[in-house]
Amino acid sequence: MSSGNVYIETFGCQMNELDSELVCGQLRALGYGFTTDSSRADVVLYNTCSVREHAEQKVWSRLGELRERKLTQPNLVVGVLGCMAERDGEDLMRRMPVVDVMCGPGELDKLPTLLDNAVRTRASLLAELPEHLNATDISARQVALQGNTSRRSATLAAAADTLELLDLSRSISPIAAGGDDHTAARRTAYVRITRGCNKFCTYCVVPFTRGAEIHRPPDHIVDECKRLADAGVLEITLLGQTVNHYRFEHGASVTVGGVVQPQKGRTYAGGHRRDPFAGEATTTFADLLARIHDEVPSIQRLRFVTSYPRDFGDDVLEVIRDHPRLCRYLHVPAQSGSDRILKLMNRGYTVAEYTEFLDRARAFLDQPEIGRPLMLSGDFIVGFPTETDEDFEATIALVERARYKSAFIFKYSPRPGTVAIEKLADDVPEAVKRSRNNQLLLAQARISEEIGATLLGTTPQVFVEGLSAKERKRRDRAQPASSAPKLPGGVSLTIAGRAASNHAVAEITEEACCSTRPREADADTLPELVQLSGRTDGDVIVHFDAPPGRSPESMLGTIVPVRITQVRALSVLGTVASA
Ligand code: 5AD
Ligand code: SF4
Repeated sequence: MSSGNVYIETFGCQMNELDSELVCGQLRALGYGFTTDSSRADVVLYNTCSVREHAEQKVWSRLGELRERKLTQPNLVVGVLGCMAERDGEDLMRRMPVVDVMCGPGELDKLPTLLDNAVRTRASLLAELPEHLNATDISARQVALQGNTSRRSATLAAAADTLELLDLSRSISPIAAGGDDHTAARRTAYVRITRGCNKFCTYCVVPFTRGAEIHRPPDHIVDECKRLADAGVLEITLLGQTVNHYRFEHGASVTVGGVVQPQKGRTYAGGHRRDPFAGEATTTFADLLARIHDEVPSIQRLRFVTSYPRDFGDDVLEVIRDHPRLCRYLHVPAQSGSDRILKLMNRGYTVAEYTEFLDRARAFLDQPEIGRPLMLSGDFIVGFPTETDEDFEATIALVERARYKSAFIFKYSPRPGTVAIEKLADDVPEAVKRSRNNQLLLAQARISEEIGATLLGTTPQVFVEGLSAKERKRRDRAQPASSAPKLPGGVSLTIAGRAASNHAVAEITEEACCSTRPREADADTLPELVQLSGRTDGDVIVHFDAPPGRSPESMLGTIVPVRITQVRALSVLGTVASA
């Protein structure tokens, strides 16, 4: 069936971005259309994040706005997808009857049925609406949640994992993907390899909202990469909450909904120098990386996020070192530089073990002399319960020692249902959290600049993503969105910065990008030079002007050599070198 225009807004992490993409593909195949203007939609979907309270508050305020809208558009169907739906359960609907559909992250394959039911149910409820009620008081109440997923074993979770069908249904043709062949969005893609998490860090909701860790069959993953490559994709980022835990045991499997699932997985525990179960019956993470690299040679860049620092084998480092299209980039959250706080967080490693891993990774992978420096990024939480000045100093010391090219820094946000909120008072005052957040950002900004300076004079290959943030802002100022002319060829350049969505913090991007020459905001003309943004193999963001005589849109989604000429507070600038 087909039912009008869908508006979908995604909050949070890359996993959510991928989920939204898959949901859109599924709905498009069923005849739904899409709009980027919420006010023109028949169905409004929010794909939500629960990791921090702030992300949830945004959704609450959006839902509040929709209440008004339903008075004038009673048929409007509103859906809350993702982690907030799973975490709040039906309470959310009770608090916000404006919501018609709730669908947890593990149930997204059921969304088309839920929407279909919601459209019909709303229509019949409205037809019989009692006089004392109005359209905002009734909900179509279509719900698919896993409920208590964290208590299930990985075996049961795998057996019940119908979500594999959603990944398998990915529509990859250019038309189905809705993109223009020339946009960078068509040339870069996420591919999920693991779902869920078993780590239960005490502050984190993910094991509760996304359930137990399960691993996709390698043939499905390789096949998806091949289909993406055939459709023109050059860059793939493999996704998992603890992506380096990937391991698939062949043979011991059951079939659910036509999809082969592993029946049981042995836990990869301790040591972690090499996957101890490697062998014919097992595809390890190292095996998977090598397979994708070798079997899909047109993928120019293969990355993965997010890595868990404790479980990173030398076998994986060797594969990255020996396979040229595997990027020299690791995102390995440390969360704190204090052993006491790491213990309270249940992270399962000490600072010494973490830095030992960084040293090991650098020994294998850091090769600036051949133009392949290893770039690292990390996540930190400041103001975790009981964090003292001394603990925080230890975090600063770790940041100084680790020398990340960027770090994502968050103020601790107590999350309902987690061990931390149950057992530890949120006792670090907000002002102290804010001050530590700023101090850490400053320390990281200085290091980012120093890392940027090491690139001066080098000419890395840069994947061109879109307009720089500064260029976008300048255009918005010069031309209101509705009247903004498209660039020649009708292509809008809009996708820069997509990977930073979960991390509103110290990523090298946004405000920090500075042009090397003055630009005046002239409302009547577009300047001759257009500033673009792209990423190196090590995920460093580079800004540069499209060379005169070369159309910016023809550069999108291509990989070009850029000579690095300047380093500013949080960005590097360069000029396109002749290939
Ligand atoms: N409060 C603050 N930050 C959090 N993160 C996860 N849970 C919380 C929380 N309750 C951060 C961690 C994680 C990143 C995705 O979000 O740093 O790595
Ligand atoms: Fe959350 Fe920890 Fe799992 Fe990361 S490893 S998703 S922080 S529980």
